[in-house]
Amino acid sequence: MNVHVAVQTQAHRLDSNTAAFARDVLDGLTKPQKELSPKYFYDDTGSELFVEITRLPEYYPTRTELGILRDRAAEIAALIPPDAAIVEFGAGATTKIRLLLAAHQVAAYVPVDISGDFIITQAEALQRDFPQLAVHPLAADFTKPFALPPAVRDLPKVGFFPGSTIGNFEPQEARRFLESARDILGRGARMIIGVDLEKDENVLVPAYDDAAGVTGKFNLNLLIRINRELGADFDLSAFAHRAIYNRDQHRIEMHLVSLRDQSVHLFGERIGFRAGESIHTENSYKYSLERFRALAQQAGWTPARCWTDADAMFSVHAIETNGSRV
Ligand code: AVI
Repeated sequence: MNVHVAVQTQAHRLDSNTAAFARDVLDGLTKPQKELSPKYFYDDTGSELFVEITRLPEYYPTRTELGILRDRAAEIAALIPPDAAIVEFGAGATTKIRLLLAAHQVAAYVPVDISGDFIITQAEALQRDFPQLAVHPLAADFTKPFALPPAVRDLPKVGFFPGSTIGNFEPQEARRFLESARDILGRGARMIIGVDLEKDENVLVPAYDDAAGVTGKFNLNLLIRINRELGADFDLSAFAHRAIYNRDQHRIEMHLVSLRDQSVHLFGERIGFRAGESIHTENSYKYSLERFRALAQQAGWTPARCWTDADAMFSVHAIETNGSRV
């Protein structure tokens, strides 16, 4: 049966999010190189495991970026107009934005994330700690165009996109995201973006394949989620986590490798795996300073400043749009 027909026949039993998940999974698992989208990592367990990842000794990006934001808060804040609205794309924990808000008073903060409940709780806590700040949480898919709240439309805008989440986009998607952010923020806007840097494979691979096996659990949780939410029968003991550095493409790839010949069933479909065959679950692109600046320029931004840590592991870029604010 065609995969869409397979989902369609069950669709009356699925809510629209689950039906979209089912379609993406069936599409991805029937491609010659099987793949699953990393956006499905983040159910409750996946989000908790990701927080654990950010604290691992091998996973340098989070603490290195925090160090840059802490050390350079005054210089970064100097680029933010005092009456500005900061728009954070994909806002999660507020640790990073708090560093900027503590260094500099701004008028408004707009955390944007698909998970509305989470940002509302975070926004309430932030509002208590920064009573003069107008906080306008916005539940939206920040990778697509969205309208800013009317209350901030006339303020100067500064986008904030930390964490090197831009590295999880394909280069074309990263460019489209930067173009869309430019349209959303408008003329005269600035943006502060965290971007992970290319480095030795001996540092990169352990960051995505840690000794404690947390990243492996995070990767395998995707199969647990497919079993639970879509009724599949993945045998978790028959798949292994693998992280490889693809130097030509400048990216870490995460895969789930089948340990034997096997079949998995999903919506009446049989999906065959050969021993050694993998499901490609994530890319995490690493940039040089020059390649990121070129990407920003292609998307209509002008690189303004850039900060790195002493070991050049991670970078924080300030970019700006041409032209004055309307
Ligand atoms: C969210 N993102 C920036 C992480 C990264 O480093 O690409 C996701 C991640 N995957 C495995 N470890 C961390």
